[in-house]
Amino acid sequence: MAKKRLLSGIRPTSELHIGHYLGVLRNWAKLQNEHECFYCIVDWHTLTTKYKDTNDLQKNMIEVAKDLLASGIDPNKATLYVQSGIPEIAELHLLLSMVTYQNWVERDPTLKDMVRLLAEDEEKAKQEITYGLLGYPVLMSADILSVFGELVPVGKDQVAHIELTRDIARRFNHIYKSDLFPEPRPLLTETPSVMGTDGRKMSKSLNNDIKLLDSNEITQKKVLQMITDPNKIKKTDPGEPNNCQVAYKHYEIFADKKTLTTVQDECRGAKIGCVDCKKRLAKIMNAYLAPIREKREGLNNEKEIYEILYTGNKKARQIVQQTLLKVREVMKLKNW
Ligand code: TRP
Ligand code: SF4
Repeated sequence: MAKKRLLSGIRPTSELHIGHYLGVLRNWAKLQNEHECFYCIVDWHTLTTKYKDTNDLQKNMIEVAKDLLASGIDPNKATLYVQSGIPEIAELHLLLSMVTYQNWVERDPTLKDMVRLLAEDEEKAKQEITYGLLGYPVLMSADILSVFGELVPVGKDQVAHIELTRDIARRFNHIYKSDLFPEPRPLLTETPSVMGTDGRKMSKSLNNDIKLLDSNEITQKKVLQMITDPNKIKKTDPGEPNNCQVAYKHYEIFADKKTLTTVQDECRGAKIGCVDCKKRLAKIMNAYLAPIREKREGLNNEKEIYEILYTGNKKARQIVQQTLLKVREVMKLKNW
């Protein structure tokens, strides 16, 4: 299979958790061996909802970069860069916005979810929508099309955005009689949906997440809070792993087959209590995460992280600048 251009983006919001790792980062690290990958830290996207408080933006950008690097993203294989370092993406966003119908962005289903982030009350949230937030998916289209991305690994919730990107690319090509832009495709990967310690979807805002950078002790503490089979109260009560709502689900993600058989046997046979069983789970998870955490701790030189990002930005920017030369040309704008 010929190598394809692949692009994905991640918002620099806060420290990432194991759900991000299993769902996104691990996959990005794998894909860098299969395609020509561009991984963008999309700080402008963060501004679409968090423009009022930008104090942590730089810090979060560095933290996310560390998480990406610790998860195996190799800047020698993939181009790792920061959106705001490439001003031509903003120019492309502007030019694409000219061919994008207002109702295309208004019908975007994920916009509704983002609006929910703005305020508890839906009416109030609607009043909070800015021009920038409405343009969120167009900005994402600009990210993708700026490097002629063909494949976009994303979760299901982002597929509508890729559809919009295809619509914009098609309309642009049609209007300017060109075949400049490819129509990108989403690359849906099977990812385990990771439960938080309380059984809801793992999320920082629900405070039920286990972070990549949590210590072994904190991880154990959080694992001990996980819900188990409600019928198993004492060690001598037999339990059923399939009814063990959170802890066993994590075993299934992190443990090998042999361990799973042991857990089933000990649980059903009332040979172990839930506390000990979860301590073992914590050990398994900590062992799984150890190489990532070790690597992350080694990335303590901020200057080095900036160097990596500068290098990535330079590489990405050259490519995006080439794209804009062509875009201006087909739009009959002057290349000043
Ligand atoms: N919207 C994506 C998210 O919230 C982030 C993103 C921005 C992105 N630009 C992108 C993803 C380009 C893929 C491609 O997860
Ligand atoms: Fe879950 Fe283990 Fe308790 Fe069984 S013994 S209910 S698998 S935590």
